[in-house]
Amino acid sequence: MSLSPPIERVSIDLAERSYSIFVGNGMLGDARTFAQLPAGNAALIVTNITIASLYAAQLRSALAVHFKQVHIVVLPDGEEHKTWQTLNLIFDSLLEHACDRKTVLFALGGGVVGDMTGFAAASFMRGVPFVQVPTTLLAQVDSSVGGKTAINHPLGKNMIGAFYQPLLVVCDLRTMETLPQRELSAGLAEVIKYGPIADLAFFDWIEANIEALLARQPVALAYAVKRSCEIKAWVVGQDERESGLRAVLNFGHTFGHAIEAGLGYGKWLHGEAVACGMVMAAHLSQRLGLIDETFVRRLTDLIKAAGLPVTGPRLSRVNNATGTMGNADRYLALMRVDKKATAGEIKFVLIDRPGSASVQGAPDALVRQVIDSCCE
Ligand code: NAD
Ligand code: GLY
Repeated sequence: MSLSPPIERVSIDLAERSYSIFVGNGMLGDARTFAQLPAGNAALIVTNITIASLYAAQLRSALAVHFKQVHIVVLPDGEEHKTWQTLNLIFDSLLEHACDRKTVLFALGGGVVGDMTGFAAASFMRGVPFVQVPTTLLAQVDSSVGGKTAINHPLGKNMIGAFYQPLLVVCDLRTMETLPQRELSAGLAEVIKYGPIADLAFFDWIEANIEALLARQPVALAYAVKRSCEIKAWVVGQDERESGLRAVLNFGHTFGHAIEAGLGYGKWLHGEAVACGMVMAAHLSQRLGLIDETFVRRLTDLIKAAGLPVTGPRLSRVNNATGTMGNADRYLALMRVDKKATAGEIKFVLIDRPGSASVQGAPDALVRQVIDSCCE
């Protein structure tokens, strides 16, 4: 029988935009969680059809202690809905309820809801406060922290958005109980990510505790969320707007975003694409002589043990003008629209040594070799 962990607090230090990340059990239905928020007349809970039936009533009653009106807008569920059209549903709701500049938005959901709510908060009346209440492991360890908000464009993922920090992040571990196993694994991809780029001891710990994490053992989950948030807070505290260091948090994402866009958003989960992308980026690091085969093997085995893919999908397609585009060409074309690319040169997060990463270019020929060897 495992013990329930106490509530932990991680701070993210960004001068006047600093905030706390709470990690614990049962907080989203507890009015005390929100006691420090600035007074406002209205709150708007933004959620989706799946999460609304699970957690919206609890959050609503906790917020009703602090806000005169608590409204709710329920979005469709899925990465394919991370669009202008769905974003507009949030603005429709804010305007229909005559919300003002003090209205606080609450993102209740995974990364899709969190990213869209953050972007809506950044732009409604040029900026209203918002709170992240992440309900997926991925959102608790990554997307709810650090202020990146966005929607997708058909030509590129997260291409339209803003840096906009929340007032508070509430990681209620109890929400993990209802998370589908595939989503739990997808979240583990972002937990694993922190090891190779920043903390080898954490990587060792994940290897030793992967079964406990997959079994949702509360103490193990609490440590994984807290340590991931600490690492992310440390990185974002030094480079909020990604002028340098923060880009290492995109380990696996250059290949991963190509997989997501190439297959069509929603086919592979974001965490699955990142997992496979990390394997590909590790192979590229090895081919560049930065790390040896042993660490590539360890990372691949851990990703596999977490229930995640380690082999890339084929992304070739027929183009009427130029004939069939080969798999490596398609990956390269998609990676050239990655936000890290400059003047068409693709940038990768590579492991310099286990526990440390940097952003670098790589010769196309080497990238092709990696794609050829890592795809089915
Ligand atoms: P998601 O938001 O689509 O949630 C995954 C699925 O789980 C959805 O169907 C959702 O309805 C369901 N769900 C959520 N919580 C649940 C719960 N407690 N119980 C049962 N079902 C639940 O996906 P995600 O993996 O959370 O987030 C992926 C998104 O996050 C991507 O769009 C990605 O680009 C973004 N992201 C952003 C950042 C950032 O820094 N802003 C970082 C990483 C990822
Ligand atoms: N998920 C990458 C970042 O927040 O920078």
